[in-house]
Amino acid sequence: MPADSETLPKKYHDAVLNWQQQFLPDLEFLQENWDKHFPKDPCFRLCAYREQGICGHIEVGDEAGKPKYRRACEMSPHQANHLLKAVKAQASTEFGSIQQHRLTLTRAQSEQDQFWVLRMMAEELRHGYQMLSVLLNDDWKSLVGQSGEEMVEEILSMKPGSHVLGAFNIDFDSFVDNIVFCALIDRVGKYQLTMQKVSAYQPMAESMPPMLREEAFHLAAGVIPLRRWMQEAARGEIYATPSAIQRTLNKWLPRGLEMFGDERGGASNIKMGFKDLTNQASLDQYYQEVVKMVRDLNLRYLRERLGEIASDDLDKTLLDLEGGQRSREVEPDEILRVPDKGYFRRRGVFAYQMIGSDGRTYSNVVEYQGHLRDTLPESYLASNDFRHYLELLKKVEVGTITKDEAQQRSPQLSRVGGSCPCSKSVRWITEDSSSSVGQSQ
Ligand SMILES: [Fe+2]
Ligand SMILES: [Fe+2]
Repeated sequence: MPADSETLPKKYHDAVLNWQQQFLPDLEFLQENWDKHFPKDPCFRLCAYREQGICGHIEVGDEAGKPKYRRACEMSPHQANHLLKAVKAQASTEFGSIQQHRLTLTRAQSEQDQFWVLRMMAEELRHGYQMLSVLLNDDWKSLVGQSGEEMVEEILSMKPGSHVLGAFNIDFDSFVDNIVFCALIDRVGKYQLTMQKVSAYQPMAESMPPMLREEAFHLAAGVIPLRRWMQEAARGEIYATPSAIQRTLNKWLPRGLEMFGDERGGASNIKMGFKDLTNQASLDQYYQEVVKMVRDLNLRYLRERLGEIASDDLDKTLLDLEGGQRSREVEPDEILRVPDKGYFRRRGVFAYQMIGSDGRTYSNVVEYQGHLRDTLPESYLASNDFRHYLELLKKVEVGTITKDEAQQRSPQLSRVGGSCPCSKSVRWITEDSSSSVGQSQ
């Protein structure tokens, strides 16, 4: 279906360009070299797209069948607030991921990988721009007390540490992070966007298809290098080892699962017509997709490692290895494993439970700490993010706080104070229980 494009009023467009100069200064370099790397695709353009011809009536929930809302004022303040929270969380993730990727972008070992990630970053900028257009094309002030201008200022002043969702507050330590993040976290993005295709708010629903088309490229930017790294490892290369990939999967998957929100929530999104799946249902589908991706990576590894082998034998070998048995001279720890859904969680039903990557439950914190040391990247263990998790876990274990309190108290850096355009202040805050996850409801 065709899509219309628009640019934001100059003041806001320039504000995004200003942000881009700071956090994505290589955008011009990407555009200059676009045809060399992506000769079949039109060059990147910073604009918002609106899909034409999408369904005009509400598709799920209490008001299914009625015309979709074209203006925020047609919604109840409760609905408008709920939607706004999701739009802001989405915008925050788009800008936030650029701030993360830039930390290690230049460490790519291949020019192609670097350009693919750079293109993905540019498209995240466009996604953020798209969400700003959703905010600016309507009048929210009478409903939620915040003008479009104030919201744009709030979003563009977010720094690593102040983003709405936890995954966007964690630093990258190597280019393996860039790639695994694309394969896992952008995949969550794909699910969120797909669910919001039904949005009862027409401008949001129209924004989803163009973003989803770009998201497919982001997943490829993650999966293709992973395939290559696994095949290289099978030939004995040591650039990105299965062990490094495994630990990085362990670092990001728990955060990806938490981006779906608490497993017990999501019903109100459906009721209000904003999404068509509960948190648990979408998380389960996502997890199965990750299982499939990892199985495919393992099969590629084994094919390269073992040479010509019948596909039945290949499946049997993988099954043995997954069960912890050596097979055809391949050791079980050579393949990748998807960590258990309860592993290293700090939000949702498994928050602050001591569940191992293999699903085993630990009864004391010293042992669990040892397990995390053995399964997470060493560079991540030295991070602020990990320290705060472990300190809270220890408090839970001695009974100073409950698991729920730990979940609510998970400290994070957040911007506080007024909406003065020069305000960039961030400080440690404690969340209240109602805002535990931006897209949780
Ligand atoms: Fe995005
Ligand atoms: Fe993405």
